[in-house]
Amino acid sequence: MISFIFNPVVSLLIVASHISGSASLTPVVILPGDGGCQLEAKLDKPQTVHFFCSKKSDWFTLWLSVAQLAPKEVDCWSDNIRLVYDESTESFSNSPGVQTRVPGYGDTKTIENLDPTLKSSSSYFAPLVQALADKGYVRNSSVFGAPYDFRLGPPSNMEYMVKTVQLIEHAYSLNGNSPVVLVSHSMGCLWTLFILNHQPQEWKDKFIAAWVPFSGVFGGSTNEMELMASGSNEGIPWLSGIDVRAEQRSYESNFWLMPNPELWSPDEPLVITPSKNYSAHDYSVFFKDVGYPLGDSIYKRVDNLTRAIEAPGVAVHALYGTDVDTPVAYIYKEDGKWDVTPTKLNGKGDGTVPLRSLEACLKWKHEQPQVVTSKTFAGVDHTDLVSNKGAIDALLSILKDTSDRIIV
Ligand SMILES: *[C@@H]1O[C@H](CO)[C@@H](O)[C@H](O)[C@H]1NC(C)=O
Ligand SMILES: *[C@@H]1O[C@H](CO)[C@@H](O)[C@H](O)[C@H]1NC(C)=O
Ligand SMILES: *[C@@H]1O[C@H](CO)[C@@H](O)[C@H](O)[C@H]1NC(C)=O
Repeated sequence: MISFIFNPVVSLLIVASHISGSASLTPVVILPGDGGCQLEAKLDKPQTVHFFCSKKSDWFTLWLSVAQLAPKEVDCWSDNIRLVYDESTESFSNSPGVQTRVPGYGDTKTIENLDPTLKSSSSYFAPLVQALADKGYVRNSSVFGAPYDFRLGPPSNMEYMVKTVQLIEHAYSLNGNSPVVLVSHSMGCLWTLFILNHQPQEWKDKFIAAWVPFSGVFGGSTNEMELMASGSNEGIPWLSGIDVRAEQRSYESNFWLMPNPELWSPDEPLVITPSKNYSAHDYSVFFKDVGYPLGDSIYKRVDNLTRAIEAPGVAVHALYGTDVDTPVAYIYKEDGKWDVTPTKLNGKGDGTVPLRSLEACLKWKHEQPQVVTSKTFAGVDHTDLVSNKGAIDALLSILKDTSDRIIV
């Protein structure tokens, strides 16, 4: 889900800014998507995969650093960012000799532009945060970022839930006890759902005004099948999936993003080979057949976390793109040959996430008393949505309605 790096720079939004008094601003907390924040590393490695890879270093940006994805560097990079799963202790750790940290929690800087050396050409939440700033919002005071180690899922990162609950409470009290609007993108929506599912209703009634999920991957995404079988270059033209497969298979979060068996039936093949097909109900066999049986143990850690897509118990205004060709199944020409780029079978969605996963939140209309609305953006891609003028305008109008309601 990192293809946004190479998207053209989004044209600046010129918002005729009516600066409203800060008392009427509804605070905003943003939970970014997979790969949607920076990750720093410090090395003191016992060994490296090539002689030219650094063994020792001070803190540096491991993600996003487009330079480290260059053909010569990518092996060093993937050995630095991969995780190691220890089955005996059921825990993840970094690659030996690598320390990592997520910079800038609370602020929006590390989710606005991802590569600190490239700035606007790695722009992510920058246009959205700027549109809020043009309305009088102040970074780390009325608009906050909640970045996280996107390699991990909830079982290995419960601290993130604790920290984010505290950040929401902080945003509330810093803004005159005004309930918060949560904004999330992609996997950040799954995290938001997980966090809300774990808070008491009284807490949600007090602290949350509304949730605006952008491109919510509520029921997983089919592209995880390709990633587990063959690796995916995620749109980076000079890489092949195989270069990054081991690294991608090592992320706990990539298992959390696998197509949810509640949304895909056993007779819908996601991976098609001449003699055997694999559905969302065949993951054990699939992991074994692609030569990654460990995947089955990791999948079991995250399988049931958000499988029920349980109503969050807050007002939801979902925004998502439609009518972009989206891979819904992958075809392999030869049995047992996974080290290839499969043929994609396209269906409906936002280019990354299938439509049924994006709109899985609509069932909440019948499952909670709080309002659930949605707005779709035809032809707008999964990641482009966060910088899309129409989607940002929709957010601004939700924020205005919310603050009007709270003030009155
Ligand atoms: C955000 O503001 C708080 C004070 O409210 C401060 O302690 C913290 O360091 C700031 N964070 C960043 C990343 O600037
Ligand atoms: C796999 O799925 C395809 C497409 O639905 C179907 O044509 C084919 O017969 C299936 N193959 C097997 C072995 O079940
Ligand atoms: C997850 O839920 C499914 C369906 O309810 C159940 O069959 C499975 O055993 C559960 N898995 C774990 C690891 O609890």
